Amino acid sequence: MRGKVDVRWDDESVLPQEFPVDVEYLWRRMTEETLNKARGKLVLDVGCGRAKDLTEVVKECSDVVGVGVEPSEVMLRKAKNHIFGVNDRLHLVYGIAESLPFKDASFDRVVCKGAIDHFYDPEAAISEMARVVRCGGKVIISVANFESLSCKLGRWVHSIKSFFRKDAKDGQHFWEIPPDHVTKFDYHVLKRMCAPHLAITTCVGVCLLTYNSLWRSLLERLPQRASLFLLRLLDRAARMLPSLSDVIVVEASRHRPPRS
Ligand SMILES: C[S@@+](CC[C@H](N)C(=O)[O-])C[C@H]1O[C@@H](n2cnc3c(N)ncnc32)[C@H](O)[C@@H]1O
Repeated sequence: MRGKVDVRWDDESVLPQEFPVDVEYLWRRMTEETLNKARGKLVLDVGCGRAKDLTEVVKECSDVVGVGVEPSEVMLRKAKNHIFGVNDRLHLVYGIAESLPFKDASFDRVVCKGAIDHFYDPEAAISEMARVVRCGGKVIISVANFESLSCKLGRWVHSIKSFFRKDAKDGQHFWEIPPDHVTKFDYHVLKRMCAPHLAITTCVGVCLLTYNSLWRSLLERLPQRASLFLLRLLDRAARMLPSLSDVIVVEASRHRPPRS
């Protein structure tokens, strides 16, 4: 596992210093949309990080048991502190998504939020998620869309600016894959990877135009209620436009075995 996985990965290095209004809204909505679908008696979170989501799910219902899989020793240490108080019903396991240490059909819900683009073999991970979810259970995967409307506009405006100003500012842009991501995900990549292993029941988008500087400066100038109204409006539109939205959330189940 060492060599393929960064066992010292630390979210401190990627968490933004501050959360502009659009980013804060996106992160909140991504979590809501993912966790709303994650209700079940036995819930697995793959690449659970600090296990914040799993803690929330377990705290909400006294008969839910959560299991978090995580290969980073740093994140596992943080998660251990985080789950204090619910650790009788929340178990942390050192492992990787590509080879889950569980029996077939063990879980009611398998959740993977904002992590699949970090996995060295995401399709093997999807196959494993399909294996460990029970028949009638659900797999929920949410991931950033690097072909969102925001990313497309960002690239387009940047290339025009670069054409006219050869000294255009460089550095990491929000539409570029961060160094700790392995795979560039978008709507088509996600659907293609799921198809052999899972039957997608719903696929929705979350938020539009996050990270776009004009959109952000408009939101920052408006009174809070008005900016929230606009964020909600675009989020509603994003639901129906997952290929252009900032985050894609897929809910899927195992393929039915063929009738003999
Ligand atoms: C961006 S974090 C997301 C954490 C959490 N799901 C959340 O939403 O806060 C991605 C996580 O995936 C983990 N990860 C990376 N490669 C992995 C792999 N092959 N199998 C399982 N988890 C992995 C990282 O250690 C990291 O904690």
